[in-house]
Amino acid sequence: MRILVLSDLHANVTALDAVLEAAQGRWEQSVCLGDVVGYGPDPNEVTARLRKLGTQTIRGNHDKAVAGVMPTDDFNPVAKAAVDWTRAQLTPEHLSWLAALPPGPLATDGIVLVHGAFQDEDEYVFTPAQALDGLLDSTAEVTFFGHTHHQGGFSYQDSRLEVLQIHPRPTESFAALRIEAPRRYLLNPGSIGQPRDGDPRAAFAIADLDHQTVEFWRVSYDISSVQERMRQARLPEPLVQRLMLGR
Ligand SMILES: [Fe+2]
Repeated sequence: MRILVLSDLHANVTALDAVLEAAQGRWEQSVCLGDVVGYGPDPNEVTARLRKLGTQTIRGNHDKAVAGVMPTDDFNPVAKAAVDWTRAQLTPEHLSWLAALPPGPLATDGIVLVHGAFQDEDEYVFTPAQALDGLLDSTAEVTFFGHTHHQGGFSYQDSRLEVLQIHPRPTESFAALRIEAPRRYLLNPGSIGQPRDGDPRAAFAIADLDHQTVEFWRVSYDISSVQERMRQARLPEPLVQRLMLGR
């Protein structure tokens, strides 16, 4: 089965629609690693898309903060302003759906989903040391994580941990990774709504474990139209600027 892996959508429906169009006909099941909302201008639209698709979704820290499941004490002022704005926009139905999202790790369709680190959903996984727990403790050979907004990941076999540098070039739509059992993988599809790895294109992955491949995709979208809606909504300017930079 081919699984569409979405993460860190951050209320950017223009990016999400570009992703769904590029992925059309290439997947049977969809999953989401959290941060459905927060930062972007379209929280209701993005939540509605996922609910309509029936995407198996776990919660991210922004979903928790917006839904009142966690306090925003640890959020910087810019992120907190976006949380407050988002909460005021969301319909009661969408807010309830976000509040009820399960935490990771969640096993589904032969893979495991986490938002941040395997042992702590709010922790970031940037380094091999931070990736080790997930690689060793996950119940599946392939685990997907988000939260950092960096596409790529890690693999582990025979006490050796490898950093996987996977980035489609600007002229390419995707780069494929071959999955080699019994090697273990901790993979990040990247962020749809707010990439931070230097490539402003929306990022996602398609996993086809029957054929031992994971494709890491990038797709361009109309960033300026999203920036225009963010300015109309008076969302903080640093959040507007970073979309074009991809950082
Ligand atoms: Fe995020």
